[in-house]
Amino acid sequence: MSIPSSDLPPIETIVSDYHVPVMVEEVLTALAVRRGRCIVDGTLGGGGHAKALLHAGAKIIGLDQDIGAIGYCIQHVVVYAGDTVRLVQANFRRLDLVLQRLKIEKVDGVLLDIGVSSRQLDRAERGFSFQKSGPLDMRMDRAGSVAAADIVNEAGQDELARMFRVYGEEPAAGRAAHAIVDARRKGPIDDTLHLARLLEQVIPKRGPRHPATKVFQALRMVVNDELGALADGLEAAAKCLSPGGRLAVITFHSLEDRLVKNFCRETTLAQLDRPEWPAPRANPRCMFRAVNRKALTPTDRELARNPRSRSAKLRVLERTASNFTAPLPG
Ligand SMILES: C[S@@+](CC[C@H](N)C(=O)[O-])C[C@H]1O[C@@H](n2cnc3c(N)ncnc32)[C@H](O)[C@@H]1O
Repeated sequence: MSIPSSDLPPIETIVSDYHVPVMVEEVLTALAVRRGRCIVDGTLGGGGHAKALLHAGAKIIGLDQDIGAIGYCIQHVVVYAGDTVRLVQANFRRLDLVLQRLKIEKVDGVLLDIGVSSRQLDRAERGFSFQKSGPLDMRMDRAGSVAAADIVNEAGQDELARMFRVYGEEPAAGRAAHAIVDARRKGPIDDTLHLARLLEQVIPKRGPRHPATKVFQALRMVVNDELGALADGLEAAAKCLSPGGRLAVITFHSLEDRLVKNFCRETTLAQLDRPEWPAPRANPRCMFRAVNRKALTPTDRELARNPRSRSAKLRVLERTASNFTAPLPG
């Protein structure tokens, strides 16, 4: 189903100083929103997507692991939507448990808009920004036990280098790790600008991005176990969707998109084949139909309006009736 643009809330009602939601129109179409459908927004943020979904007639269960996002949405979304929205501070990796506690068996859609919000990035005290001085924190859930400073000051040089290479895809990972270990001999590194200045000295500037971008990204991903949460969240969503229900996932960098893409392939293939098998076998994990063959990306109009949307990719799956309790054949 496609929702005509005229039925969308005006963009100024969903854009807030908290976060500008990306690909709103595409998300509404992806989730095939109809009046009364129950959709989980697993990444509420400033509630931009949630408001658009509510406006299109959906009921919303909104999750965010950041209590600040929940507080903001109590003021800005609940007020707007009353009892058609329920908000829970939780990690979407435990979406199935959250729904169990709310006594909701199945839902019609799940939206995951992965990553951090502009509010989290922009507030120096959250520790995500390499442009402002703040505590080296980066926890989305402030009850989380490990902050970025713990990793920067305690991890071994090899471990840091591996982290920056794997999660940041930083070519100068080794040099960055060495500089950190060297600098922390003089005292702990617990300020974002301190770390950014240090990295500027050993990572060459390539293109418009700040040299610390990839190391900060890697730290953020490790602190919040972002890839682990995403992998668990996809499985949890599959358990909670009713047949015909839609899963829409927006990612912002290649590691996340690869994970989602692999999940899509693994759960949409009807048959598996291996050279050692006499014939193809049914895939016990086949539980979705791909709605789009390729990932969707923002339009030029959106890119001009919101440059932060530039790396967004939206993938959409539809739950089929088949079950997936059997393990993959050995
Ligand atoms: C990109 S923002 C979402 C913006 C939102 N769609 C909007 O319209 O404002 C991502 C949000 O998801 C939250 N988040 C990220 N990973 C999460 C997880 N594993 N569980 C719950 N919330 C998460 C972050 O705290 C952040 O508020």
